Amino acid sequence: MKSMHELSVPVPTKRSLVVRSNKEVSMKQREYALKETEYSMFSFPADMLVLDFLSDSGSSSMTDLQWASLFHGDESYGRNKGYYVLLDAIRDTFERGNEPQKAINLILSGETNVEKLMDELYLKSHEGGFVNGGIHQLARPNAFLVPQGRCAEHLLFSTIAPILKDRNPDIEYYIPNNGHFDTTEANIAANGMHPVNLFSVNLFEDFPSDQMSAKNPFKGNMDSKELEAFIEDKGVESVPLIYLTITNNTAAGQPVSLKNIKTISEIARNYEIPLFFDACRFAENAYFIKEFEEEYRNYSVVEIVKEMFSYADGFTISFKKDGLANIGGGMFFRDQGTFYKKFSDNGNIGIKLKEKQILTFGNDSYGGLSGRAIMTITVGLYEIVKEQYLRERIRLVREFALKLSKNGVPVVLPAGGHAVYINVEKFFEGTEMKIDDFGGVGFTIELLKHYGIRACELGPFAFEWDKKTPEQRKGILNLVRFAIPRNVYESSHIDYAVAAVTELYNNRERIPKVKISRGANLRLRHFQSGLEPIYNSQ
Ligand code: F0G
Repeated sequence: MKSMHELSVPVPTKRSLVVRSNKEVSMKQREYALKETEYSMFSFPADMLVLDFLSDSGSSSMTDLQWASLFHGDESYGRNKGYYVLLDAIRDTFERGNEPQKAINLILSGETNVEKLMDELYLKSHEGGFVNGGIHQLARPNAFLVPQGRCAEHLLFSTIAPILKDRNPDIEYYIPNNGHFDTTEANIAANGMHPVNLFSVNLFEDFPSDQMSAKNPFKGNMDSKELEAFIEDKGVESVPLIYLTITNNTAAGQPVSLKNIKTISEIARNYEIPLFFDACRFAENAYFIKEFEEEYRNYSVVEIVKEMFSYADGFTISFKKDGLANIGGGMFFRDQGTFYKKFSDNGNIGIKLKEKQILTFGNDSYGGLSGRAIMTITVGLYEIVKEQYLRERIRLVREFALKLSKNGVPVVLPAGGHAVYINVEKFFEGTEMKIDDFGGVGFTIELLKHYGIRACELGPFAFEWDKKTPEQRKGILNLVRFAIPRNVYESSHIDYAVAAVTELYNNRERIPKVKISRGANLRLRHFQSGLEPIYNSQ
């Protein structure tokens, strides 16, 4: 008899305890709502959808343990108890691998031994890592809680920009990345620096769909040769920071290999440039490393995370990703490491960051978050590195890509960690659709109108192709993304989406071109401008 894992269907890994029913909405109602919201995916009422693939950010179902932790939330203004356990969960997650200390249990178990609480939690000193503790966090702050990832980016770039300008006002500054997310790109640009994408050369190489469970080419990597050439070309002084986004959301959610992390870190070290991670989906990235990098097959996910972060000088993170929580973000840097040394020429960089954090988001122990949210993030950090959870998470995304691909829909393969991406250029091959007709947007409008499914264009419209130079246009991919919220959807949801997308693919010549009717020049326009589909009969 076959074992449970040998059956041709996956073993269920969870049960749902709470249910939210979808509304029954007609196509006419959706059409009207689309028109009234200027055909903007971001403005369509979520409550009228059947499936929502707009984002995996903050849209995950929390686990029962996370819901339970809400009751421990401490809403005190100064040093709420969750602050201490969250900082220690960050140490556990990014620095301690197989040896977590789980200080969270002191809170969840209602520990009453005050000496123990003082010694092990509230007054315990830590230094030398990503999260100083006790007196060291006061003297050399290096851990900053903020409401979400982009706030961490704003905090970082708005603090270092004036330092760099002071240092040398006459040169241009560049921040290379394996793929900047749109908010990262915008925060860098808003602070007078230049974001640069150095995608992996194999990003659009074909990949056989039946090999997805067997191998992975880590298309999210940074092109290390390009990086070296870029630094040589612009000069070290012009490259104040190198960024690695894991997983690489802009490059179709593809993972970054540990080999690439090591190579980039070596280059960064040789030039003495701090290496930062955009750590938004680190757990999913770690699972890919375990699954596909031979050397790490026998490592636990938590050991892999520890190894990954041992190469970073710091990181920004959105706690809304990776199934962590519904809100939250942070910035962390290595105590007295390269980042600290490079940016403290005119006073401690940590103090400057903390001043800005207090000015804009709230004092250091809550950073704009509720005490309840802090607890769900803390518990979430332990939930998301569980291998059974990650296995099912990645499997479902893969199932989506595989089913679309079997139906002939051109998707980027292999599937990434959090989303499936349609290759829009291939999708419209043989039709009249041109890049500035925003066919990807037309597709999302039709998908929503006919089937109540929301997805998002991440291509020439979102990344403002029409406003960029030919050189900058090279950094733009033409994709539509289906981001999959965690623990929300099952195979039946995927089947409905696959049937709908396939139907549209088979009728692709009927998908409208799209005009920007309002706000083409707004910053981050895909969140706010108005659109108008142009149907052939018009
Ligand atoms: N970095 C990456 C790689 C991201 O994917 C995101 C957000 C951010 C930074 C910003 O974090 O939303 O908490 O401010 N990505 C979401 C998405 C919005 O849908 O991909 P945030």
